[in-house]
Amino acid sequence: MKNKLIAGNWKMNNSVSETKSLLTKLLPLIKDTPNSVVVCVPFTDIYAAGQLLKKSNVSLGAQNVHWKNSGAYTGEISANMLSEAEVTYVIVGHSERRQYFNDTDETVNGKLKAALNAGLTPIMCIGESLNQREQGVTEAFLATQLEQGLKEITAEEAQKIVFAYEPIWAIGTGVTASAKEAQDTIKFVRKQIASLYGEDVAQKVYILYGGSMNDANAFSLLNMPDIDGGLIGGASLSAEKFAAIIRAVEEK
Ligand code: PGA
Repeated sequence: MKNKLIAGNWKMNNSVSETKSLLTKLLPLIKDTPNSVVVCVPFTDIYAAGQLLKKSNVSLGAQNVHWKNSGAYTGEISANMLSEAEVTYVIVGHSERRQYFNDTDETVNGKLKAALNAGLTPIMCIGESLNQREQGVTEAFLATQLEQGLKEITAEEAQKIVFAYEPIWAIGTGVTASAKEAQDTIKFVRKQIASLYGEDVAQKVYILYGGSMNDANAFSLLNMPDIDGGLIGGASLSAEKFAAIIRAVEEK
């Protein structure tokens, strides 16, 4: 069994001073964990977080990236800029970006390629809406998101991607997918990755669950055989709660 990967997605939270105080509290709580830990911070916190994380066991991530290297794209940040700022992970295609900022499977594809070219590890998010789940089209929708988002990405590149299955109806709502629902869907995602890239890549890649994961439900979710970790929003804003999630699966 792989060690787990627990990634915090701070979203639009934490100023520089709040970043320093949260990370200063978090690091001692998790310093011996065998699990991998990432915090995906707002762009303005990258420098301060990077300074604090330098000698730690926590990796630095960003929440978005542009698909071009440079140019007239006011307000955007490129993959090279992130990697020079010592960022190693970047979230791509989060449902909030798809919903509010026009991320599409096509732009997700461009962003994945840009991130991979710059040596970053993308965390590619996919997930269905409540409506899609109720209509029974979850699997077809996820298969399309994967196929379109991964267009022209080779198997060698794909094995560097971390996947995050985040049902939209579970994000920030307090409604979590049951461990079985999450396991079944992630197993399907792994099967799709196998059909695109072969069983070997599918077994190797990390597939995370995200959507209202917290200290109370983390153990049952993370204990599932296909769930390799979590992408944590709300609960990653509390050092104690985030640490409890990270530590939840060390007891196994
Ligand atoms: P949540 O967010 O844990 O607050 O539901 C997860 C995410 O959006 O990545």
